[in-house]
Amino acid sequence: MANVLVIDDNQGNRETYAEVLEDDGHSVLTAASGEAGLAKMGAALVDVVLCDLKLPNMDGLATMELAHERSGPVPWILITGHGSEEIAVAAIKQGAFNYLTKPVDIARLRATVESAGRLASANRENKALRRELGYEEALDRIVGTSQAIRQVKAMIRQVASTDATVLVEGESGTGKELVADAVHALSNRSGRPYVKLNTAAIPRDLLESELFGHERGAFTGAVQLKKGKFEVADTGTLFLDEIGEMPLDNQVKLLRVLQDGSFARVGGNQPLKADVRLVCATNRNLKEEVLAGRFRMDLYFRLNVVNIVVPPLRERREDIPLLARAFCERLNRRHQQDRELSETVVQHLRRQDWPGNVRELENTLEKLYVLSPGRQIVLDPNAIEAAGPAQRAEPAAARAPATAEDAIRLLLGLPMDEVEKRLILATLAHCGGNKSKAARQLQIGLKTLYRKLEAYGVKVDGE
Ligand SMILES: Nc1ncnc2c1ncn2[C@@H]1O[C@H](COP(=O)(O)OP(=O)(O)OP(=O)(O)O)[C@@H](O)[C@H]1O
Ligand SMILES: [Mg+2]
Repeated sequence: MANVLVIDDNQGNRETYAEVLEDDGHSVLTAASGEAGLAKMGAALVDVVLCDLKLPNMDGLATMELAHERSGPVPWILITGHGSEEIAVAAIKQGAFNYLTKPVDIARLRATVESAGRLASANRENKALRRELGYEEALDRIVGTSQAIRQVKAMIRQVASTDATVLVEGESGTGKELVADAVHALSNRSGRPYVKLNTAAIPRDLLESELFGHERGAFTGAVQLKKGKFEVADTGTLFLDEIGEMPLDNQVKLLRVLQDGSFARVGGNQPLKADVRLVCATNRNLKEEVLAGRFRMDLYFRLNVVNIVVPPLRERREDIPLLARAFCERLNRRHQQDRELSETVVQHLRRQDWPGNVRELENTLEKLYVLSPGRQIVLDPNAIEAAGPAQRAEPAAARAPATAEDAIRLLLGLPMDEVEKRLILATLAHCGGNKSKAARQLQIGLKTLYRKLEAYGVKVDGE
């Protein structure tokens, strides 16, 4: 059963329609003008609107148009006087669900409201379903079952639907961006723009224009008007990454937007407004930055309404096996293979300190994956070392068994490029990652080997 809004300036008509529809079990609201109808839609949940086309002041079509802008796609049924078929057709073109001609046939009225109600509830369910799916997906992307990660996820669930500014803190590579993504995906703004800006990646003198836009001719090179991220993110979420790197003069301008919601493009003086939810991230300790005088205290308080701290990986080692397996699965999907990660390798990874956190683990796993000659992913000391200053692998586990892995299996039908790639990677792994030795065995130049490895995405520095 639907919530129906009846808009008609004739009291007798309103009462008749309301009575019939209430008998069918619908809840009915009434309004005597377009303006009053819009006000009711703003205040209550309306599934279906039944509206007379001819109204004093604003007519039915204009009311519908405004309502569509404000409240989204609610099905409208317009009632037209006889002989105004053309207007009725125009109404359908403008997005009306259906129309009824006067004198209104009661049976048709009931049937039309009934089917509009079904459409409204299908729309609603779809929306809820889509949101729920988005929900799970965004949270599932954050792999981990440690107490710390569960807390982070609970926090995201709790704050996402508010409009509160969120500050995500954590070392580099801990997954701060995934957290920011999930905050947006779980929020009511999820269908709206999600705009990201990495403060550290923008040259200092361009940052203001990136944030707030510029007018044409505002400075040399500003050949046309450009909207800033705040304008683009209107009604949605703006993710300001590396906020700790923001120069002080930009901090002042950001503070102003947060205080009164308005800003101006560079070279412009017209104040603009944007409805933006802000999520910020930093790998610095922002409180310390404040104490050191590098970050404004007033801005810090504005940004730090909700604080989510993502702990380093070494403090939640229990997540390492899950993460490693998740990355391995992803690599398998990408390479259409079914490589395995043995418990020995997993336990070895678990013992490392991972100063580069999850990103380092991910990169290391990718290297091990491409360097492993067989189905089993094996530890390659070079790969671990190349990924960062993590501890070295134990030599015993480090070397692939020389005999069984001396051969590689190649399925018929593989393209030549792929055969070459597998042979090169397998040979390199067989040589314990020693590139000069591998190049000799392959009888190619060392430079050629480097070039090929680079093309395969294998990091080649740190011989
Ligand atoms: N819990 C996790 N589950 C799955 N993947 C993760 C997780 N945490 C991080 N990652 C992956 O690690 C990489 C780094 O994550 P992200 O970019 O979110 O880190 P960050 O904290 O923003 O790092 P930085 O401070 O360097 O910007 C990404 O590829 C991300 O997908
Ligand atoms: Mg990041």
